[in-house]
Amino acid sequence: KRSDATATVFGEEQEALVLDAWNAMKGDSASLALKFFLRIFEIAPGAKQMFPFLRDAGDAPLENHPKLKTHAVSVFVMACESATQLRNTGDVKVREAALKRLGASHVKAGVADAHFEVVKTALLDTIRDAVPDMWTPEMKAAWEEAYDQLAAAIKEEMKNAA
Ligand code: HEM
Repeated sequence: KRSDATATVFGEEQEALVLDAWNAMKGDSASLALKFFLRIFEIAPGAKQMFPFLRDAGDAPLENHPKLKTHAVSVFVMACESATQLRNTGDVKVREAALKRLGASHVKAGVADAHFEVVKTALLDTIRDAVPDMWTPEMKAAWEEAYDQLAAAIKEEMKNAA
């Protein structure tokens, strides 16, 4: 089990650190999504090529792409769901989280393991900048764990889909 590989105990406190931050941020999800993607492309400019709607859009400004917001909010919301699953069961289940199709769509888009690290760094930076007063090492660790377990579940499905 993936959860046995880490020393982190994911309990109510960790779940609350994830959900409290998201509750404080989500009212401004449009600008949050934009900052998240700008950070992703700052770290990895080449990642832009993977998003068909960006590839085809030429130099149009990023904020004009509604699909960016959809993907950004998916990552945030699914990390929150992952936190709740971790607190409940100690594991993130692909089937229960209805992640099956995510394997196929990310393989199709050409997403590699390294991209998950880029998105993780961008996610943590975005949260830190959005809720600086709430941000602590404990909050960072809780988001990392929720994201890592979610990413591991998606990567597992990507192997099955490849
Ligand atoms: C598509 C979530 C990580 C790039 C999607 C979709 C969701 C999603 C919900 C819509 C398609 C579907 O439902 O099958 C997530 C989550 C991630 C994650 C929760 C991490 C935990 C990444 C990473 C990359 C990426 C690391 C690459 C930088 C894409 C691309 C698409 C996609 C290119 C297709 C977009 C399109 O064709 O419109 N993702 N994703 N995703 N994702 Fe992710």
